[in-house]
Amino acid sequence: MCGIVGYIGQRDVAPLLLEGLQRLEYRGYDSAGIAIHSSGTGKSAGLKTAKTKGRVRDLEERVPARFEGTTGIAHTRWATHGAPNDVNAHPHLDAAEQVAVVHNGIIDNASELRAKLTADGVEFVSETDTEVLSHLIARAQADQLEAKVQEALRLVEGTYGIAVLHADFPDRIVVARNGSPVVLGIGEHEMFVASDVAALVSHTRQVVTLDDGEMATIKADDYRTYTTEGSRTSTSPETVEWAAESYDMGGHDTYMHKEIAEQADAVDRVLRGRIDERFATVHLGGLNLDAREARRMRRVKILGCGSAYHAGMIGAQMIEELARVPADAEPASEFRYRNAVVDPDTLYIAVSQSGETYDTLAAVQELKRKGARVLGVVNVVGSAIARETDGGVYVHAGPEVCVVSTKCFTNTAVAFALLALHLGRIRDLSVADGKRIIEGLRRLPGQIDEIMRAEDDIKKLAADYAEAKSMMFVGRVRGYPVAREASLKLKEVSYIHAEAYPASELKHGPLALIEPAVPTVAILPDDELLDKNRATLEEIKARSGKILAVAHQEQEKADHTIVVPRNEVELDPVLMGIPLQLLAYHTALALGRDIDKPRNLAKSVTVE
Ligand code: F6R
Repeated sequence: MCGIVGYIGQRDVAPLLLEGLQRLEYRGYDSAGIAIHSSGTGKSAGLKTAKTKGRVRDLEERVPARFEGTTGIAHTRWATHGAPNDVNAHPHLDAAEQVAVVHNGIIDNASELRAKLTADGVEFVSETDTEVLSHLIARAQADQLEAKVQEALRLVEGTYGIAVLHADFPDRIVVARNGSPVVLGIGEHEMFVASDVAALVSHTRQVVTLDDGEMATIKADDYRTYTTEGSRTSTSPETVEWAAESYDMGGHDTYMHKEIAEQADAVDRVLRGRIDERFATVHLGGLNLDAREARRMRRVKILGCGSAYHAGMIGAQMIEELARVPADAEPASEFRYRNAVVDPDTLYIAVSQSGETYDTLAAVQELKRKGARVLGVVNVVGSAIARETDGGVYVHAGPEVCVVSTKCFTNTAVAFALLALHLGRIRDLSVADGKRIIEGLRRLPGQIDEIMRAEDDIKKLAADYAEAKSMMFVGRVRGYPVAREASLKLKEVSYIHAEAYPASELKHGPLALIEPAVPTVAILPDDELLDKNRATLEEIKARSGKILAVAHQEQEKADHTIVVPRNEVELDPVLMGIPLQLLAYHTALALGRDIDKPRNLAKSVTVE
């Protein structure tokens, strides 16, 4: 949510920053801007900016021909304070245009600071919370830029990832992190900063991730890190796991399509090296939960937001079924506000693709403060949630660039299957059942390929369902989280209104919505509930409702059936969601939506 990028070195900075912004655009796409230390002399020296409402491609058109320099910062925005327009776009400057700031996060006491600064005669030009930072830094009494930024940050409450330029310090960029990610990229006689490695990897894979409360000064030939209080911190660069090509579209028209299509490989990756045939279990190296602890726990509580929460719902069912421990999932965004009872015998699990979602991170921090044991199921290695938790399982889906989650949802569900199997085999799951699940896991990549081969048929269905004014998604027990996720996917990318209900709840109210213009997508795995689910189809048909079934065999009552390969019943949710990702994708395509950047959304929700 909001992307920051900065560069200092020998190269012409504007094209580098624009390229970095393109790669970060999924973090926000309301407006974009850039500030550089101009290499001109006389009147053309000093800080120069260009910014605009809209996309990075709009900014490219706004950058003047003579916009030369080798140091600069840039930003792509997802609006929190103030409408998306040219003036509210970052970077924000002080009145004398000595300081330029780009910011990701929210300054909670911005109104109070704004009132004080206004009373002191400062004139604000934007409605943003960020502008207070530019004025505070410009007015700071300290001599050095680092100390000026520290002085300003002492007055600020809230979250930030910031990068600062100062006209009097052309040899450096100062950055700081509190709650919003900041990563340094270490090059040869050049340094980068970004909110995400996606913006850096085409130039360097050596990165330093800042901690909360940490700052850095980057110069062309070196960098140093320290706290906001000024004490030095020691950091050494790590190598990014993924090559630059993993962040490209790889011949697909959209990242969403690429990410749906690569799920067989992604699932193969999450399984690789983890299966232990001999003991019919799996090895999860970073779990940090010994067998005695696993036996002692009385409950499992899974926390995540959006698709991660839905994957957590699947995980809770798998853990309950395979490990026979009561388990449930809850939106982290709710959990953190309800003063939940934190139970010492409960194992808490935070789920997040980005590892940066603020609500999930805040839930983890609150749990840790209360002495709970918290594990993470996270995709981005070294992210805030990965670092904050006591251990966990990496999802290994690879970079997910499309704003809507697809491959990461699937891989998270598989990661939960691994965890459930591991916990089950420590507890009471038999060797035979362990082997059965392992066999099922091994079949998944081939079965995903089989589903992908039906894409043309699903595309035809999508053209038909794209006319719906609203859609209902229903499933029972294992099918319900799939229905929730499929409904979310459809809304996000196609903007068709969709509701998800447990099939059993339909007759308690939502059946009133059923009519020919409101089709139902029903998830009907061939499990012990198939007959009950078929009865639901009858109820819908009796109200002239149109039905698309996702099932293991053709459904007589349905208008259309997408047949999905059979696996073990516990793993059904992993496969049944995939055709519905394709349905959402092709529906959005048929409606001409901006698939990778749906309106009003951004990836990595790093604000409350
Ligand atoms: C939906 C989607 C969001 C995220 C949610 C949590 O397609 O992508 O609902 O799942 O914002 O994000 P992470 O997993 O990064 O914590």
